[in-house]
Amino acid sequence: MDGEQDSRRPGLSRRAALAGMVAAAAGAPAAAQTSGEGLAAIAARAGILFGASVARDIDEDAAYRQLYREETRQITTDWALKFDALRPDGERIRFEHADRLRGFAEDNGLAFRGHTLIWNENAPDWVRKKSTAELGRLFDSHIEDVAGRYAGQVAIWDVVNEPFWPDHGKPGGYRDGPWLQALGKGYVAAAFRRVASIDGKARLALNEAHTEHGDRLAAMIRPLLLRQIDELLDAGVPLHAVGLQGHLDSRLPADDKRFADFLREIARRKIEIHITELDVNDRRYPDAVAERDRQVAARYASFLKEVLAVPEVRVVTCWQLSDRYSWYADPDVRRKLLDGRAARPLPFDDRMRRKPVWQAMARAFSERRVTG
Ligand code: XIL
Repeated sequence: MDGEQDSRRPGLSRRAALAGMVAAAAGAPAAAQTSGEGLAAIAARAGILFGASVARDIDEDAAYRQLYREETRQITTDWALKFDALRPDGERIRFEHADRLRGFAEDNGLAFRGHTLIWNENAPDWVRKKSTAELGRLFDSHIEDVAGRYAGQVAIWDVVNEPFWPDHGKPGGYRDGPWLQALGKGYVAAAFRRVASIDGKARLALNEAHTEHGDRLAAMIRPLLLRQIDELLDAGVPLHAVGLQGHLDSRLPADDKRFADFLREIARRKIEIHITELDVNDRRYPDAVAERDRQVAARYASFLKEVLAVPEVRVVTCWQLSDRYSWYADPDVRRKLLDGRAARPLPFDDRMRRKPVWQAMARAFSERRVTG
């Protein structure tokens, strides 16, 4: 498929574009793995661009900032480019934090992933009071303002986040929210078309939650996402990648082989696959730290073994790097999703020390065996 132009989407070869990004981000040609090598260098040898989300923490924590330099070749804005972070109280946009993260990415040769232009979950109250016509205008102007400011500087945009949530009871299983209410399901295609008209360089991704689980909701969302992908591609919408978040969860059933089969279904559409928010909710694992760390590492190993066997998987991103700054450390999230117990979801502990997860990820990247 390398270099192949798809009749529905003439233009830059998708695989070549990202392959170039992976190769460039990997820096020097593959060298023998050394103990000091970071995850991104190991991943790059397996054709994977490895990164992690970042928030305001790296502004304040020099050790954490250094960890990103050593371990990643890509950063994702966790908070800075979300609608509610940019426009908390009205039309004025607060770009300061996103500008700093973009500068950090540029200064350190990291691919910059923008998360996320349109998401029905995080609209502030002042947005929900707008009329349908005002929402339509705000939808367009928000994309123009934000994608326009960073045109040519964003490697990958999560253009639309989490389009589906069947339990909202909306037609087609779409996630409810102001953009769906104002524009209908067509808001997805409209967002992609508008970003593409502003930034012809960024790779454009549709990012979805929950499909990585083996439960009822995942079984409902997967076919909905495949149909959405087909509708976008058949309409000639510039969709380059699908992001699957990968918030693994010890409280939910899992079937990594079936998830990999789902990835192969996506791959048949000739678009890249990105794991975009990898971490593990370890709530059902034992309290004892050594055993809990072992089970979290085993969860990463099982998931990555199946996922990395799919050749179209080209990006793996953790949702932060250190337990100290995981979203699970947020008191509200900890109370809601962990019954109040501190989580250990990531490759580094709260003192930036490598955990068994780090070794499991390094091994999964090093031992990647692509099948079919
Ligand atoms: C999370 C942030 O990390 C938290 O700090 C915030 O409180 C809630 O949102 N899926 C997504 C991310 O796509 O944007 C969410 O990020 C986590 C779930």
